[in-house]
Amino acid sequence: MRKPIRKAVFPVAGLGTRFLPATKAIPKEMLPVIDRPLIQYAVDEAREAGIEQLIFVTGRGKTAIVEHFDTAYELEHTMSGRGKQLDVLDATRIQPGNLVTVRQQVPMGLGHAIWCARAVVGDEPFAIFLPDEMMVGEPGGKGGCMKQMVDAYNEVGGNLISVLEVPQDEVSSYGVIAPGVKISDALTEVVGLVEKPKVADAPSNLIISGRYILQPEVMRTLENQEKGAGGEIQLTDAMARMIGGQPFHAVKFAGRRFDCGSKAGFVEATLSLALERPDMADEVRAIMRRLLAES
Ligand code: UTP
Repeated sequence: MRKPIRKAVFPVAGLGTRFLPATKAIPKEMLPVIDRPLIQYAVDEAREAGIEQLIFVTGRGKTAIVEHFDTAYELEHTMSGRGKQLDVLDATRIQPGNLVTVRQQVPMGLGHAIWCARAVVGDEPFAIFLPDEMMVGEPGGKGGCMKQMVDAYNEVGGNLISVLEVPQDEVSSYGVIAPGVKISDALTEVVGLVEKPKVADAPSNLIISGRYILQPEVMRTLENQEKGAGGEIQLTDAMARMIGGQPFHAVKFAGRRFDCGSKAGFVEATLSLALERPDMADEVRAIMRRLLAES
C-alpha cells in the first residue's frame, strides 16, 4: 500500500536578494500578487491536493509568514465590530497543530533547507513547494500542479518532479531532466538530472519547476552530500543520486508557471491574474491598453 502524501515542506529561508530593497524587512514569500502573498497561493495549492500538514523552513526576519496563518484577534474583533465580513480571511486559517516551523539558521541552499525539515518529515513521502514559483492550473482543467502530481503519484509512486517545456536556448538557466520511458503524454520516467547545462549538452528542454514529491530517503542523501554549485547544498544533486535506486518520474504540468522570484515574472503574474479576476479585469485591461498606447 502506497503511503499518502500528507506533509508539505515550504522552504522560505532564502534571502530574496533579487528583490532588494523590498525584501530587506519583508520576506519575499509575503510579496502580494494582487491581494494574496505568494505563500498563500502555495498553501492553497497544497490543500487542493489534499495536503494539510504544512512545514515551513524559516529563518530570521520571516515571522510575518507564520503570522499570516495565525488568528489576528484585534483585526477580526475590530472588523466584526464594524459589521465587516471576515470571509476574506478564510484562506489564512489553519487547523491548530497543522503548521510546524523549523529553522534554517544559515541559508546554505535549497537542499540544506529541505534537510532541516527531516525530523518533522519523518519516514513518509512528502511534497515540496517553492513558493516563488507560482503554478496556475487551467480553468476547468486537471487542477493545480500538486494535485496533478499527487494523481500521478497514486499511479506510479516513488519520486516525482514537475517539469515544463521551454525553448531549447533557455535551458541553461534551469535544472533539466534526461527523459526515459514515456508512460503517457504527461508522465515520463526520469533517468538523469543536470543543473544549468550548456544548450548543446542539455538532455532535453524539460526544466524542473518548483514542485516535488520525494521519498524520505532523500534526507539521508542530503545529509551525506558535499556542497555543489555556488557552495550550496543542491536538491537537484541529491535527487540525481536517487535515480536508479527508486522510481523517478516527471509530470508535465498542464497550466502556467510564473517565476515570481524574478521581477519581470512577478509583474507578469500580477497582470495575468488581474486580467482573469472578474472584479478588476475590465479596469486593468483599460489601464494596460492606455499604458501601451503611451509607451
Ligand atoms: P531562491 O534561490 O529562488 O530564493 O530559492 P532566494 O535565495 O531567497 O532568492 P534570491 O535568488 O536571493 O533572490 C528558492 C526557494 O528556496 C528557499 C527560498 O526562500 C525560496 O523559497 N531557500 C533558498 C531556503 O529556504 N534556504 C536557502 O538556503 C535557499
